[in-house]
Amino acid sequence: MDTASVVSSYRRYAKVYVFGLNPGRRQAVQRMDLKSGQRVLEIGVGTGLSLPLYPPEVEITGVDLTAEMLEQAQRRVDLLGLNNVQLHLMDAQKLEFPDNSFDKTVAMFVASVTPDPVAMIREMKRVTRPGGGIYILNHFSRKGSFLSLAEKALSPLSHLLGFEPLFYLDEFLERAGMGGAEDIPIRPFGYWRLLCLQKKGGRPDPNPPRRGGR
Ligand SMILES: C[S@@+](CC[C@H](N)C(=O)[O-])C[C@H]1O[C@@H](n2cnc3c(N)ncnc32)[C@H](O)[C@@H]1O
Repeated sequence: MDTASVVSSYRRYAKVYVFGLNPGRRQAVQRMDLKSGQRVLEIGVGTGLSLPLYPPEVEITGVDLTAEMLEQAQRRVDLLGLNNVQLHLMDAQKLEFPDNSFDKTVAMFVASVTPDPVAMIREMKRVTRPGGGIYILNHFSRKGSFLSLAEKALSPLSHLLGFEPLFYLDEFLERAGMGGAEDIPIRPFGYWRLLCLQKKGGRPDPNPPRRGGR
C-alpha cells in the first residue's frame, strides 16, 4: 500500500461507501467513556459514519487523506447539524497538531489501510495527552485459519482493494508498541477487535483500558 493507491481507492469508494452496520463503531465510542468538553481526534474519519455516535458536548476533530471521503463526511455533518465536528484533509502519519492536543484518539478501520500503521500510532500517541486513550478498531487475521488463506491470496491486490487483507494482531501490537493494550473482540465473530491503550503519565483516567488484553 502507498498513499497514492489509498487515495485512489477511497476516491472511488466515496459515494458508495456503506460499511455502516459494523457494531464496533458504537462499542468504540462507548468504551471511550467521553465526558463533556473532551477533545477527540478521529483518524481516517472517512464519510463520517461514526460522527452521529459521539455525544454532542464532546469536540470532535476528524482527519482523512481522501478529499472525496471528507466531502461525504461534511455533507453528513451539515445534514445532521453536528456543530461539534471539524474536518481536515490531513495525513495521519504526519499530523499537524501539537503534542498532547486531544483527550482521546481513535482510528476505525484505518490501521490496515494506511501505508505505515506504525507511523500512524506514533502520531496518535504524540497528540494524545498523558493519561488519555488511544483506540484502534480493525480486522485482524488469525494464523492458520481458513480465512487467512483467502486473505493471503488477496494480499497482493491490497493496492486495488484499498486495505491490507492479511493483518496479524500480534505483529501489529509488537511493531506499533501497543503490547499493553486491552483487546476486545467485537461480537459475533471477533474478526474485528477494539484495542484500547492508555498513554502513560498525567492524571489518571477514571475508566482506564484494562492492561494485558484477553
Ligand atoms: C476503510 S475507511 C474507514 C473510514 C471510517 N473510519 C469508517 O469507520 O467508516 C479508511 C479511511 O482511512 C483513510 N486513510 C487511510 N490512510 C490514511 C492516512 N494516512 N491519513 C488519514 N486518513 C487515511 C482513507 O482515506 C479512508 O477514508
